[in-house]
Amino acid sequence: MSKKTFYITTPIYYPSDKLHIGHSYTTVAADTMARYKRMQGYDVMFLTGTDEHGQKIEEKAKQKGVTPKQYVDDMAVSIKELWKLLNISNDRFIRTTDPYHEESVQKIFKTLYDKGDIYKGVYKGKYCTPCESFWTESQLVDGKCPDCGRDVADAEEEAYFFRLSQYADRLLKLYEERPDFMEPQKRLNEMVNNFIKPGLEDLCVSRTSFTWGIPVDFDPGHVVYVWMDALNNYITALGYQNGQYDDFEKYWPADVHLVGKEIMRFHSIIWPAFLMALDLPLPKKVYGHGWLLLDGGKMSKSKGNVVDPVVLCDRYGVDAIRYFLLREIPFGSDGLFSNEALITRINSDLANDLGNLVSRTVSMVIKYFGGTLPSEREADALDETLISLAKETKAKAESYLDNLTFSNALTEIFKLVSRTNKYIDETAPWVLGKDETRKARLAAVLYNLCEAIRIIGILIEPFMPATAPKIFEQIGAPESVTDWESAGQWGLMPPSCTVQKGDSLFPRIDVAKELEELEKNKAAAQKEAQQPKKEEKPEGVAVITIDDFAKVSLIVAQIKECVMVPKSDKLYQLQVDDGTGIRQVVSGIAKWYRPEDLIGKKIVLVSNLKPVKLRGVMSNGMILAADASEDDVKVLFLDDSIPNGSNIH
Ligand code: ME8
Repeated sequence: MSKKTFYITTPIYYPSDKLHIGHSYTTVAADTMARYKRMQGYDVMFLTGTDEHGQKIEEKAKQKGVTPKQYVDDMAVSIKELWKLLNISNDRFIRTTDPYHEESVQKIFKTLYDKGDIYKGVYKGKYCTPCESFWTESQLVDGKCPDCGRDVADAEEEAYFFRLSQYADRLLKLYEERPDFMEPQKRLNEMVNNFIKPGLEDLCVSRTSFTWGIPVDFDPGHVVYVWMDALNNYITALGYQNGQYDDFEKYWPADVHLVGKEIMRFHSIIWPAFLMALDLPLPKKVYGHGWLLLDGGKMSKSKGNVVDPVVLCDRYGVDAIRYFLLREIPFGSDGLFSNEALITRINSDLANDLGNLVSRTVSMVIKYFGGTLPSEREADALDETLISLAKETKAKAESYLDNLTFSNALTEIFKLVSRTNKYIDETAPWVLGKDETRKARLAAVLYNLCEAIRIIGILIEPFMPATAPKIFEQIGAPESVTDWESAGQWGLMPPSCTVQKGDSLFPRIDVAKELEELEKNKAAAQKEAQQPKKEEKPEGVAVITIDDFAKVSLIVAQIKECVMVPKSDKLYQLQVDDGTGIRQVVSGIAKWYRPEDLIGKKIVLVSNLKPVKLRGVMSNGMILAADASEDDVKVLFLDDSIPNGSNIH
């Protein structure tokens, strides 16, 4: 009989060298699931990859002065290296620039066009003539071109559309008939209330404003919209509409697509609609996990190396990081990532509870029996609670893992760890060891400890794949008793097993020292991030003469009032004293400062800038600020003693 299959996917990642620990979250979760299912005997296909087309990539490559292909080639290498470091066991890695994927996407596009699900229409948007760019209303910054800040005009261009609007009823029916299609449950409400009920519009699935995409082969000049390209990876990687692989029949439909909650809409509305249009079966489940947040906001690598997965793995070990990610935060919810929480988990759960249990047990077998247990053992009723808990834990962990509630599964496994530690206290082997007549009882206690540890080792293996084999080696568990099934059975360790002392599994971390060092590193990294990078100095910045510079009037001004510009979430309307009176300036700094942080401060004002209206509010000058990092802006504040109106030159 052929094995049951299990097909699991992560999203395909945007190529970037700035992947932070949050990005590793989906992949570590998917890897744990894939390992678990393999251990259960499934024929697993675990897919991940990179999402390499689109305007954003085209622009990033341009900034770096390389071709888009060179850019994505480099990034794909670094992403693959990161997954290797994190011990990710994907069976396949797809890149959307792989020729077989491109070929399939072109065929899919044509099929949908021939069937009438894709039609050619007119895309209405905004156009910036100097930049020759189309923008949607939502891409505009304060109503202006996001690139150059100039006015945009209403415009139209030809584009292909997917008839998404026709799928609303079928989607609602799907959610109703298959309540477990989308999880956790709260995502379903978000999707229905925020997107389907207000009315689904047809989706624009081609672009003509840039070229880095899969060409629509029957209409040159159009490239396939990046999400239509990307979502199809889940089937093209199995060989759908291409000759590269022949696994579509075997693995489709996917058992689960794991995705972050922000891309749930694409996976639970657009993707099933595409599949319905193609008359293909739908995935069994789409699971939208929560976000890992940093205290103080969004995670970004520019916040220093505290969230760099490579640095974290180097400092604490891959398995500790994998454990923390899946233990600390319930999978469907958002949660805070902090070094304190990470170190606390490592010290308490891994070093104290698990690591100590293994090392104490091994040491006692060596101390009392020279490393090999005698086969003569004396049981006691006291052993029963440990034995029954150990036998039950596998089923409990399985039921949580099957629902992707990783944190609960680990909690159950670590209950067994704690219970086993308690068993040491209850049986007090050090007392038995002093009594020659209690050797058989002591042997039974130590055997039971090894047996519980064997079961724990098996159950943690999907989460901590490098730690489990070390545990088996230390307690001398042969491979034949470390498969998943044997985690539900007691008494499988050989009667006279031989232990082996090994390195400490999880060395304890000195919290105060570690936090101090991390703070130092963070400060150094931030300082470095703020240094202007020579190689990133924009090329082609014009050299100006002193006369050119003299045309700019920079003066000292003081902020007197500060309110939000109506209907804007970025702009402040400021009244500043420029030494001659009060003038009004609009500035896009609302994201970084509260009004009370600004009022009373002296700033640098470009005072002779041509007045402009921003969001209907006149702005008479500009406040100077620095890009402190990718996502941080700092206003240049001046010494309070400089009089308002002073010239800066
Ligand atoms: O979205 N916490 O790619 P991506 C938790 N290319 N998860 C996080 C996170 C955080 N702080 N930051 C990122 C894309 N992620 C598309 C997908 S699929 C057809 C196309 C997760 O590189 C994020 O939620 O921006 C997503 O699941 C994954 O990292 C890749 O994100």
